[in-house]
Amino acid sequence: MGAAQDESVIEHLRASGLVAPGEVPRMTPLSGGVSCDVWRVDTAKGAFAVKRALPKLRVEADWFAPVERAESEVRWLRRVGAFAPAIVPAIVAEVPEEHLFAMRFLEPAQHPVWKDELIAGRVDPAFAAKVGAALARIHAETANDPAIARDFDTGALFHALRVEPFLLYVAQHDAEVAPRLRALAADLEVRRVALVHGDVSPKNILVGPGGPVFLDAECAVCGDPAFDLAFCTTHLLLKAVWLKPDAAPLTESAAAMAAAYRAGIDWEDADALMQRAGALTAALLLARVDGKSPAPYLTDAADRAEVRGRAKRLLAASGTDLEQLIAGWREGRE
Ligand SMILES: Nc1ncnc2c1ncn2[C@@H]1O[C@H](COP(=O)(O)OP(=O)(O)O)[C@@H](O)[C@H]1O
Ligand SMILES: [Mg+2]
Repeated sequence: MGAAQDESVIEHLRASGLVAPGEVPRMTPLSGGVSCDVWRVDTAKGAFAVKRALPKLRVEADWFAPVERAESEVRWLRRVGAFAPAIVPAIVAEVPEEHLFAMRFLEPAQHPVWKDELIAGRVDPAFAAKVGAALARIHAETANDPAIARDFDTGALFHALRVEPFLLYVAQHDAEVAPRLRALAADLEVRRVALVHGDVSPKNILVGPGGPVFLDAECAVCGDPAFDLAFCTTHLLLKAVWLKPDAAPLTESAAAMAAAYRAGIDWEDADALMQRAGALTAALLLARVDGKSPAPYLTDAADRAEVRGRAKRLLAASGTDLEQLIAGWREGRE
């Protein structure tokens, strides 16, 4: 932070050719950031977003988070941009030694953050369907590709940032659901199917004029595509509890996203994937109240108890198709 750090970032941008030798661009810190710094940098060549991974996360829990995750993110953005350039910001510079990269800056006026839109009550199931379709496209394009398995062999990172804090941590503290959570975790660690983003949350999706733009792929891994769908569904269902009087369009959005995703599954049996996504969603709902990374907005004790109870009943059930889970969430039954 501060001027010295800004100057060091600017030096790297100069070396990359984004900033001219005598030029001093304006650097504006952007919101967000438990794991990195993100700036808007205005230069003579235009505006860029510059992101630098922090060696340690800015949260209480002490997660293992090597800065190499910046490289995973760049690799994910490049790989997806190669077949679907509209759904990611283009990378314009990378300084791997500094765990820093620059991408095109997408103006917030035309690209608001989806989470902000949802909280403001602008909830559009048609947009959620586009998110589902885009996710399925990413997974379909990358499924069973040996290059993905080779380039995203980041299971250790995914374990540290996702499997441990979301599933195993809860298992350690709740004997009742522990066997089920440990089984889900074990399956996640070995199922290497497609390119998983790992943090598909409404706060990492911009609402662009043509559809979603995905950011923040630090947890990218060759893994189970059901995880991405489950992760995003979890956020929509939690927001439906939080914003209860306005729950209907949120659960409708979750349903639209799941249906669009299902329609795009062409690499494996759709029913099997949707079962895994349902079980993972139940686990992630519980993780968002009892895990290491609880949803910061779900502070009401009654809301938390409701989510905990419902998630645990879902976890105990034998089969959990995602679309049935969403329909039940809407109707207040499991
Ligand atoms: N290319 C970009 N264009 C415009 N805004 C961006 C861009 N990249 C990031 N941002 C903004 O910065 C925020 C944080 O970026 P993100 O990559 O999600 O980092 P973090 O790991 O800190 O969450 C985003 O929510 C978004 O508001
Ligand atoms: Mg983010």
